[in-house]
Amino acid sequence: MIFFLRGRNLGGVMGNGFGSDRNIRVGMIGTGTISRSHARSLEECSNVELTACCDVVEGALNRFADEFNVPGKFGKYEDLLDQVLDAVVVATPPFAHQEPVVAALRSGKHVLCEKPFAMNADEAADMAHVSAETGKALAVCSSRFRFQPRSVLAFDTISTGVLGDIYRARLVQLRRRGRPGFDMLKDSAWFLDHARSGGGVIADMGQYFLDQMMWYLGWPQVLSVSANVTHNKIEPVVPKEIKNDVEEHFDADIRLEGGTTLSLEVTWLTHMEGANGIWLYGTDGGLKLGSGVTLYHDVHGRPVETEIPLPRRVDESNVTRDFIEAIREGREPVTTADQGVVISKIVDAIYKSSETRAEVRF
Ligand SMILES: NC(=O)c1ccc[n+]([C@@H]2O[C@H](COP(=O)([O-])OP(=O)(O)OC[C@H]3O[C@@H](n4cnc5c(N)ncnc54)[C@H](O)[C@@H]3O)[C@@H](O)[C@H]2O)c1
Repeated sequence: MIFFLRGRNLGGVMGNGFGSDRNIRVGMIGTGTISRSHARSLEECSNVELTACCDVVEGALNRFADEFNVPGKFGKYEDLLDQVLDAVVVATPPFAHQEPVVAALRSGKHVLCEKPFAMNADEAADMAHVSAETGKALAVCSSRFRFQPRSVLAFDTISTGVLGDIYRARLVQLRRRGRPGFDMLKDSAWFLDHARSGGGVIADMGQYFLDQMMWYLGWPQVLSVSANVTHNKIEPVVPKEIKNDVEEHFDADIRLEGGTTLSLEVTWLTHMEGANGIWLYGTDGGLKLGSGVTLYHDVHGRPVETEIPLPRRVDESNVTRDFIEAIREGREPVTTADQGVVISKIVDAIYKSSETRAEVRF
């Protein structure tokens, strides 16, 4: 298995990097909620300038430009891409990812794309193909959870080999009431509209968890997916004026090369709680991620439970900072476009399996 957190050198695909003294000029496409988190991270990076932003809603554009002191304001992404920029962040809703991503890569910019990467695997493959063709980096924000201190600690523990061969991985993440566009983030009703979001809880949360679990497992080949996706009439129901045709729950059983099975159960809306966690079962040990990270192993033949403490100083990197560092160092970002394609294929298979009530083989 190959593990890497920081990506690997592209060996010339992205060139030699920028060096530390040259400013990296960045444009922001989409200036809503998440663009602010990217902008704050960019402010914390040295030698980075956020010089242009774009939004189809003038008020949103002006608010963002004022808040972050951005000189260039554009109503169309094409006009932003005409500017002298090294990189763009695409922070629009999912239906508006592919077009600006492809146009940005073709105009010579490196791209950080929000999650879900794409509306489906075909779109994802198209974007990955253009990235490879142009030699420009395409990073995907589905890796956001890899930067959590707990995630890094779990990854580092797994990488020591202490678990032996991992034959089973499970993740459960349940929210009582957590539909974006209705229970939270009420201004972004697009989250509930499949034609704009590409899906419900799978697009919103599932892609993070698929990325995290595949990362722990070393990105093995996917053999098959058997899944169930539901849209339930749990109170309070979304009023008819808001288009709401996305799933609020999915459970998936994924068979991986080498015999490992991966199960996920994720909801926005359910009458259940207290069951959240991640569990990895290995031949030499088990690992649980709950509020902390616990290792289950045998010492002198006796079962022992060890809490693994978080390091005092945690790495403050995040998906935006990693993207900037990748450009500067001429290496691949943490989530490559190819990994984004793998996740998109699993997501397509989850929907197909649920629809056909059958296992989908890869
Ligand atoms: N809100 C969050 O907590 C969060 C967290 C992580 C990831 N994301 C992801 O980030 C993306 C954006 O989410 P958000 O919550 O910021 O949405 P949002 O609704 O707050 O903002 C999206 C912005 O994009 C603009 N926009 C739409 N189409 C456009 C186009 N063609 N060109 C330029 N601008 C356009 C909208 O006018 C809006 O201002 C989504 O893919 C979402 O899944 C959101």
